[in-house]
Amino acid sequence: VTRVALLGGTGRIGPALALRLSAAGVEVVLGSREAEKADATATRLSERLAGVQSAPITGQTNADAVRDAGVVMVTVPFEAQAATLTPLAGALEELIVVSTAIPMRFDPDLGPEAVDVAEGSAAEQVAAVLPRSRVVGALHTVSSVHLGKLDRDLDEDTVVTSDDAGARAEVMELLELIPGLRAVDGGRLVNARATEGMTVLLLSINRMVKRSVGIRITNLPRA
Ligand SMILES: NC(=O)c1ccc[n+]([C@@H]2O[C@H](COP(=O)([O-])OP(=O)(O)OC[C@H]3O[C@@H](n4cnc5c(N)ncnc54)[C@H](OP(=O)(O)O)[C@@H]3O)[C@@H](O)[C@H]2O)c1
Repeated sequence: VTRVALLGGTGRIGPALALRLSAAGVEVVLGSREAEKADATATRLSERLAGVQSAPITGQTNADAVRDAGVVMVTVPFEAQAATLTPLAGALEELIVVSTAIPMRFDPDLGPEAVDVAEGSAAEQVAAVLPRSRVVGALHTVSSVHLGKLDRDLDEDTVVTSDDAGARAEVMELLELIPGLRAVDGGRLVNARATEGMTVLLLSINRMVKRSVGIRITNLPRA
């Protein structure tokens, strides 16, 4: 994969991922509802990468960003996921589309809570909206805080799920370009229910320990 589009790449996880992918030599196009916002974010990130060997980061509208992308990652809040993807369904046919969304809300007193999704998970919702795309779930448990610190390697796993084994393998290979991030094959897309739900648990732990925790799957055979 040489070019990744990040839809809604102007928030928290989008820019952090863009920095890591760019530093790994992968060209990134940030998508946004507003081209100017994407462009401004791309300029800010490119300035941060000055002096670091990196591939270009540019910004466009979401619709323009998906053109010529090898992989499309959806980094908008769950509530915005279906509305963002529906008008792009034709352009996203045959493409690998990665869902990162966690269907949840923050109760001001009780903290993070999962919300029910009719399709079962956010990733399965993407598959329902984009029946002709190669849908993958990944990155749920990876915090933008750690991703954004380019001077520190990650030290965690991400479980990658898809009903398309080829797409799953491609996304695993892409994510393992990020130093210290290990991609674990999580099997079918339905298993995104567990990775998304696990993230609500991690966010509850974060709230108690006041830092961003991640996951490790133990006792895997060596690659
Ligand atoms: N933050 C994390 O550490 C983390 C970790 C793992 C997974 N995730 C998941 O990644 C996704 C993005 O997280 P985030 O923290 O980066 O979110 P965010 O900063 O709240 O939003 C990301 C971008 O989504 C777009 N957006 C927001 N509301 C929208 C709407 N109503 N319609 C269309 N686009 C909208 C915005 O882009 P424009 O205004 O430029 O269009 C915004 O910059 C979420 O689904 C989250 O569950 C986050």
